[in-house]
Amino acid sequence: MALKVGVIGNGGISRCHARGYKALGDRVEIVACCDIVEEKAKAFAEEFDVKNYYTDCKTMLEENELDLVSVCTWNSAHAECTIAALNAGCNVICEKPMAMNAQQAIEMKEAAEKNGKLLMVGFVRRQGNDAAAAIDFINKGYLGDIYFAKATYLRRCGFPGGWFGNKSLSGGGPLIDLGVHVIDLTRYIMGNPRPVTVFGATFDKIGARSHIKTTAWESETVVEKPVFDVEDLAVAMIRFDNGAVLQVETSFNLNTKSSSGDIELFGDKAGLTLEPFELHTECNGRIADISISGDNGFDFDRDFNREIKNFADAVEGKAQCIATADDGVELMKILDAVYLSAKTGKSVDIAR
Ligand SMILES: NC(=O)c1ccc[n+]([C@@H]2O[C@H](COP(=O)([O-])OP(=O)(O)OC[C@H]3O[C@@H](n4cnc5c(N)ncnc54)[C@H](O)[C@@H]3O)[C@@H](O)[C@H]2O)c1
Repeated sequence: MALKVGVIGNGGISRCHARGYKALGDRVEIVACCDIVEEKAKAFAEEFDVKNYYTDCKTMLEENELDLVSVCTWNSAHAECTIAALNAGCNVICEKPMAMNAQQAIEMKEAAEKNGKLLMVGFVRRQGNDAAAAIDFINKGYLGDIYFAKATYLRRCGFPGGWFGNKSLSGGGPLIDLGVHVIDLTRYIMGNPRPVTVFGATFDKIGARSHIKTTAWESETVVEKPVFDVEDLAVAMIRFDNGAVLQVETSFNLNTKSSSGDIELFGDKAGLTLEPFELHTECNGRIADISISGDNGFDFDRDFNREIKNFADAVEGKAQCIATADDGVELMKILDAVYLSAKTGKSVDIAR
């Protein structure tokens, strides 16, 4: 029998989830969807041939026996919708960031454990060929001991609009929206070391820059009077329990030469960049850059499909979930610590 799917929050990213479910053919069926804005739920239902649409997720959960639920709402609704779905006996994939803060993330993880259900976090970058190739090189010893890493996701002009600048709905700016991807990806590639100390700084010098047209991701939520009370730039140093340090830079808006995103890992044998996928090392007494052939990149559509497949496979016991609730909680602890450090001006130890 097909796994029955419900999708909560029917904006931009929900379509990537829906396409992922459709790619699984008759293994799954999207039977219900829900958005607090009725036209959005209706439009999603029409586009993806969904029988039942709702404006309240609790009604959707009561009236349908769902196996899989995607939570694709704005960030402030992640915890409430996820916990409701888990309590209704569903397995859940919740978009990144897992929650507004670590406390909410812990409550979500506990709800999954109490109900014996899977809670996966939408860390889609873990699904990329770049992540798999980097882990392969590291596991085979090519980098040696990795003691420093850099994760950047800088947009010169890329505020997504909608609710993304409203702290009460988003929880923060580029750090919680973009930084979350690259911090998680770097930590994942490094073997998920435990974060222990964080120093962070945030700035709001430029603001929304909404008068300039952007080509970056845009929220489908139309807001009459847009709020921008989040940071436009965040930087951080994160020290892990193995002594390694990760430096993070992430912005919605920054007067930089060009937007950029990359992960760089520095080992005592070689360094590795992901974009392009290259080893930086030495050869025969000379400095050498080795370009690795093949498809070693991240592909948005392919890797969303992989993420949804991994979710369905993990629920059916056919694969390990590669982005667990534990990973989501660790990430939220890091983000909380960066924001606290930025507020106090002091480094923050992550409590256990
Ligand atoms: N993985 C990625 O690469 C990626 C990319 C973009 C967005 N996202 C994440 O996806 C989520 C949604 O982002 P988006 O760009 O699709 O936003 P969006 O504004 O396009 O859509 C969000 C939708 O959620 C609905 N909603 C809000 N609260 C709800 C509730 N309680 N019940 C039902 N519906 C509710 C809104 O009405 C809206 O239609 C965010 O958490 C964002 O961080 C992830």
